[in-house]
Amino acid sequence: MNNYQNHTKSASSKVKKEIAERVNVLLAKMSLEEKVAQLAQISGADFVPGPDAEEVLRKTGAGSLLWLNDTKRFNELQKIAIDESPSGIPVLFALDVIHGYRTIFPVPLAMASSWDPEVAVKSQAIAAKEARAAGIHWTFGPMIDIARDARWGRIVEGAGEDPYLGSAMAAAQVRGFQGEDISDPERVVACAKHFAGYGAAEGGRDYDEVFLSETELRNTYLPPFKAAVEAGVGTFMSAYMDLNHVPASASRWLLREVLREEWGFEGFVVSDAMAVGNLVVQGHARDNRDAAQRALVAGMNMDMAANAYTENLADLVNDGTLSMDLIDEMVRPILTIKAQMGLFENPYVDEGLLDEVVSRPEHKQTSRWAAQRSMVLLRNEDNLLPLSDKLKHVAVIGPVADSMAATEGSWMVFGHKPAAVTVLQGIKDKLSGAKVTFAPGPAIRRDFPSFFEEMFPESKIPEQTPAEIKAAFTEAVATAKDAELIIMVLGENADMAGEAASRGSLDLPGKQEELLKAVCALGKPVVLVLLNGRPLSINWASENVPAILEAWEPGTEGGHAVADILFGDVNPGGKLPVCFPRNGNHAPMYYGHTLSHQPEGHPQYSSRYWDSPTTPLYPFGYGLSYASFEFSNLTLSAAQIAAGKSLTVTAEVKNTSKVAGDEVVQLYIHQKWGTDSRPIRELKGFERVTLQPGESKTVRFELGEKELTYWSTNAGKWIQDTAAFDVWVGSDSQATLHAEFEVVA
Ligand code: GLC
Repeated sequence: MNNYQNHTKSASSKVKKEIAERVNVLLAKMSLEEKVAQLAQISGADFVPGPDAEEVLRKTGAGSLLWLNDTKRFNELQKIAIDESPSGIPVLFALDVIHGYRTIFPVPLAMASSWDPEVAVKSQAIAAKEARAAGIHWTFGPMIDIARDARWGRIVEGAGEDPYLGSAMAAAQVRGFQGEDISDPERVVACAKHFAGYGAAEGGRDYDEVFLSETELRNTYLPPFKAAVEAGVGTFMSAYMDLNHVPASASRWLLREVLREEWGFEGFVVSDAMAVGNLVVQGHARDNRDAAQRALVAGMNMDMAANAYTENLADLVNDGTLSMDLIDEMVRPILTIKAQMGLFENPYVDEGLLDEVVSRPEHKQTSRWAAQRSMVLLRNEDNLLPLSDKLKHVAVIGPVADSMAATEGSWMVFGHKPAAVTVLQGIKDKLSGAKVTFAPGPAIRRDFPSFFEEMFPESKIPEQTPAEIKAAFTEAVATAKDAELIIMVLGENADMAGEAASRGSLDLPGKQEELLKAVCALGKPVVLVLLNGRPLSINWASENVPAILEAWEPGTEGGHAVADILFGDVNPGGKLPVCFPRNGNHAPMYYGHTLSHQPEGHPQYSSRYWDSPTTPLYPFGYGLSYASFEFSNLTLSAAQIAAGKSLTVTAEVKNTSKVAGDEVVQLYIHQKWGTDSRPIRELKGFERVTLQPGESKTVRFELGEKELTYWSTNAGKWIQDTAAFDVWVGSDSQATLHAEFEVVA
């Protein structure tokens, strides 16, 4: 550790000591009622029944307040807490700022598609600046649940199917939100959620139970959370669902053994919304009192909006069921984070700041850059793309082509008015001299409305009559007919992915595929742009539409970024962080499975289903470019290493085209035998590189104990086997450039 780091470490340990002393002095003065109040996160919105926020703050103060997005009101409530509550402890204001506050960035699944952690760092740093300027101290992000079932709506909020990529993006988001030190007035405290295993909901049905072995948890679902702890994340949020029959919010194994005893986490854990009270609904706790006791003992510091702690903990201490020490243990990290943020000194927000901050030009510029880097080119037959800007008449067709909400995607903060540049607008801006016509075609809407619709009634999509549907379809085909090229913009509405937005199929919703086929039947060149929050089974399009761009939910500048790529101002370089199944029924589907006795390539292998191929439509790590690349010279620094030692892997990547472009060099391993059967491939390194035409670059990776250790079912602990390994380096999870090495005793 160099002098600077030594200095910083000693400085931070000095500060840490001072804060610890200050917190203990504070605790010693607080009544039991006040301490319990710090363990409560109260609702700032009237859609959840609960005590009046002002009264609570006046009487006892509160740990935190959420679901409020009103800068002036934040200061009013903070003043009550500080001037009128017994100890004057400031409140943490919290909100879901998942991919932007006013400037909206690509959804996290899109950020992961960039395979560039800097996209997450830069985007979330700006989100933090804007949120903090609004008066928000704490965001409920990053959401880092591994997801291998695209039917699960919340796949949009995470980094996809892989623990290695997921860990890199988790740490990057924490660094973006929190920076080096949460005392920075332009940062917010981050929250690693939902701990843990939430993405493995049975059938992809949000909130449904999860069954994961300890091996699967430790090798796949927990690594991004551990990466968040190592990145210094201040808080965690427990997941809603039953994990192996124990609600995550009452899981001592998760909240104490793994999170604190093994990982040394020193922050605090907040439940998901009403999850403490829901222990009763889930048939786990007998009543709210039992729920409060079990959650607290399990290690849950803060009760989000269930009021179970407020209504029961004091009695549980007074009747001797719970100790004051346990209360103090749970309160301490909450006060510590408030002190670390400097809230005792600066509890108020400058109400004139927000307008200036959100109008900084670099915010939209960064959003456009992040969107450009997140998009994935899935198909480009005969180099139809990039398009010429000499086009005279282009038709833009589709129900999300001019939807600001679909372009910004799921998880907008309360009160946010969608203001994105739509794909239609982006095309018009790019082709200012041409004729650009538009028709939405039939609207798409959920069959079962989301409960969020009540909170955001403006998001409701009106139902169309059969006659309206027919008219819209006809109008769209007619609009396409007159144009020389058609840009179809299809996908999902913002409420079709995200929370409580799971679906049984991965097909294009509504009549989009029918419309696509009708437009393609016109015999004109067609480009398909996808705006969606999950992989879609676009089987027909993948064989019949010459150019397909996966744009995800790209944010405020999404339309400009799409046009930048379609017209070649930017060469796409994104890669899929999750595979695209051919059918929703094939889920869960992921590349890192074990071989089985009849793996793909086996002479008797045809397909796991007799009615469809079970290979993905597009594999993990896949993405095209306008450039082309070649991999060669895969070399290992040793053919054998001793357990615990490392070897260096190098490979050369060359841009063999006439245009500059990015390639994401990916390194996969396969342990060929061992204490346990091991996945057919595991991502253990990646680097996105930019290469000029003809340029070559040698990319290096280290493979050592960290990469070769795994949690073994057989051994019941972390182990590194002596065994032989395959190594591949290439442009996706089906890379073929191969070498081998052995780990020996
Ligand atoms: C929601 C979500 C969680 C969010 C919380 C607060 O139900 O599950 O991700 O942070 O409640 O809004």
